[in-house]
Amino acid sequence: MPSISVKEFLFWKKTQLSKGGDNQSLSLLLDSVGGVSTSDLSLLSINPKGDLYLKKNLDYLQSIWQDHLLNSCPIQYLCGITFWRNLKLKVTDKVLIPRPETEIIVDIVFKIFGKKSQKLLFAELGTGSGAISIALSLEYPLWNGIATDIDQDALEIATKNYLNSSKQSNLKFYCGHWWTPFESFKGKLDLAISNPPYIPIDTYEKLPKEVKNFEPKIALLGGEDGLTHIREIIQKAPLYLKEKGWLILENHFDHGEKVKQLLIKNKFKSVEIVNDLSGIGRFTIGRYK
Ligand SMILES: C[S@@+](CC[C@H](N)C(=O)[O-])C[C@H]1O[C@@H](n2cnc3c(N)ncnc32)[C@H](O)[C@@H]1O
Repeated sequence: MPSISVKEFLFWKKTQLSKGGDNQSLSLLLDSVGGVSTSDLSLLSINPKGDLYLKKNLDYLQSIWQDHLLNSCPIQYLCGITFWRNLKLKVTDKVLIPRPETEIIVDIVFKIFGKKSQKLLFAELGTGSGAISIALSLEYPLWNGIATDIDQDALEIATKNYLNSSKQSNLKFYCGHWWTPFESFKGKLDLAISNPPYIPIDTYEKLPKEVKNFEPKIALLGGEDGLTHIREIIQKAPLYLKEKGWLILENHFDHGEKVKQLLIKNKFKSVEIVNDLSGIGRFTIGRYK
């Protein structure tokens, strides 16, 4: 294990940040690859004395940081790790990096079902890294979850993340197009959740290169108007949800009203647009009849 004086380390950290990038990304690198947690970093800056042991030497860490800065590759992909809610998740370029705003979906579920809930069956469509389903299966050990993705590589990551995070077996993964793998669960779901690809084509073309060049297109692009997948998910939801079953969707920042109308047209009740922490109508929820 390479050792270095704390003063030298803090100087190195400051030098890296002066080249570009943000503190949060550097902290992720130091935590996931260097073995220096965010709480260690806070303590070191308060008391910069003694030596520090790193999992990898500074040259190695610096080469990853350079790659991040020069090629705009997300630090999460370079480190193979991201943090989401209280989970540490493996990520590769086969899965979308789960976004902080998506964490609110779990809070919406808490609000609807309370924290201690009885047995029920939930589904997630387009699970990617598995973040949402894994968080729910941990929060609600009595619940059973089924999660799909069209991409087998993504499902392998999700499965690894579940096995690394949980000792239970209350979440199963299925490969296929939206509802298709759930044929045998028709009329049985209490809750379905999806953060589908919802970016309209013209917006997709203008995405920042750190997103467009690295994150999977299949996870982002929602067709011409961004609503192709959301439309299909809503239209077929009544076949799979129980009476009074909930559907929770994440949508493009300016699609809340359109998604609300789609839900109403498909006979959903209690339809509501839920804001993210920036006050943007990022989620739309409804209850089937
Ligand atoms: C926006 S990402 C969301 C990933 C994850 N749930 C999250 O919130 O971070 C959308 C996911 O839907 C999957 N997907 C795209 N088209 C699909 C389809 N036709 N059927 C099932 N999943 C699909 C993608 O592979 C991707 O993992």
